Amino acid sequence: MKKNILISGGLGFIGSNFLKYILKKKHINCIVIDKLTYASNIDILNKYKKYKNFKFYKIDICDNKKIKKLFSDIKFNHIINFAAESHVDNSIKNPNQFFKTNILGVINLANAALEQWGYGSKKNGFLQISTDEVYGDLKTLQSRGFDEKSMLLPNSPYSSSKASAELILRSYNKTYGMQITITNCTNNFGPHQNNEKLIPVIINSLINGKKVPLYGNGKNIRDWIFVDDHCKIILKLLNNFNSLSKYNIGQNNEYSNLELVNIIYKCIREIMLKNKKLLKKYPKFNFELDFNNELINFINDRLGHDFRYAIDSKLLNKKFNIKLKNSFLLNLKKTIKWYLNND
Ligand SMILES: NC(=O)c1ccc[n+]([C@@H]2O[C@H](COP(=O)([O-])OP(=O)(O)OC[C@H]3O[C@@H](n4cnc5c(N)ncnc54)[C@H](O)[C@@H]3O)[C@@H](O)[C@H]2O)c1
Repeated sequence: MKKNILISGGLGFIGSNFLKYILKKKHINCIVIDKLTYASNIDILNKYKKYKNFKFYKIDICDNKKIKKLFSDIKFNHIINFAAESHVDNSIKNPNQFFKTNILGVINLANAALEQWGYGSKKNGFLQISTDEVYGDLKTLQSRGFDEKSMLLPNSPYSSSKASAELILRSYNKTYGMQITITNCTNNFGPHQNNEKLIPVIINSLINGKKVPLYGNGKNIRDWIFVDDHCKIILKLLNNFNSLSKYNIGQNNEYSNLELVNIIYKCIREIMLKNKKLLKKYPKFNFELDFNNELINFINDRLGHDFRYAIDSKLLNKKFNIKLKNSFLLNLKKTIKWYLNND
């Protein structure tokens, strides 16, 4: 029998890349809901309409009535929740919307699931896509990355909203026996990411002949994973609910923001030199910038800016024998080419 999977926030950056994989599984009906915020990708909707196992409903996960109605119409085997307000800068300006969607929205989904699945169901599961930012930051370069047992010490309204959702779902497992899997992934990059996020900001600034805005001294460090690699892991986890599980997902690609700008600048230069059409398309791209002086516009640091995120994903890799090819540069070039070719 076909499985019904609810994919909330499926038209965002990670969700829309995930659909590419899950829609190929003919035994799965993908029921996608999304509020269609500025962060969603409506073009993807048109692209996936042709799949018989794809259904879309415009629903806000905070809309209790609509969520209840959806659950009374469809019996779901599992839920994967990508839906969230996801941009840290926005969470500093407008925390309430983050608490609403990222906490109350998750509670709505969990309550609807509980009503449909009952207590202690071993057949159903809730997969919550969370972030490594819930662990807070590492103060030094030497500190070991967080593992799944590390304390939740979030520092931004965004990360505290995601940490809250994790704790609420934990309680639904402990109290009602709902099967819960939580993933804590590092920074994703790849095609279709919103222009507000760091890698698109760097690419767009450089190709338009502008300095790249970086917070503080640019030395903050992030670990990067290609979105497709993240999506392939989520697909594996979907068949592996086991009461309460939590997995870090990362690839040990740690770079300071300054290093990242330098790498991207060199990649764009290499790609442009091989493609005359792109040279014409982006006449403002400057091939002879002095990295230290001309590339970066240092701006006032972000409030509560975490210095370094790094995680230990041994548990996941060991349990599922995951051996991702770590081709950071290759995937970065793929991503850059996508941005150069898609206005
Ligand atoms: N992007 C990353 O680097 C990263 C890393 C780790 C974890 N995550 C987590 O992964 C998930 C997806 O991230 P993303 O980068 O794809 O985010 P995104 O902002 O690109 O997409 C979020 C999607 O959720 C939808 N949405 C927002 N509020 C909603 C609501 N109230 N009801 C229904 N839909 C709503 C948006 O319309 C959008 O389509 C988030 O939960 C985020 O916390 C992201």
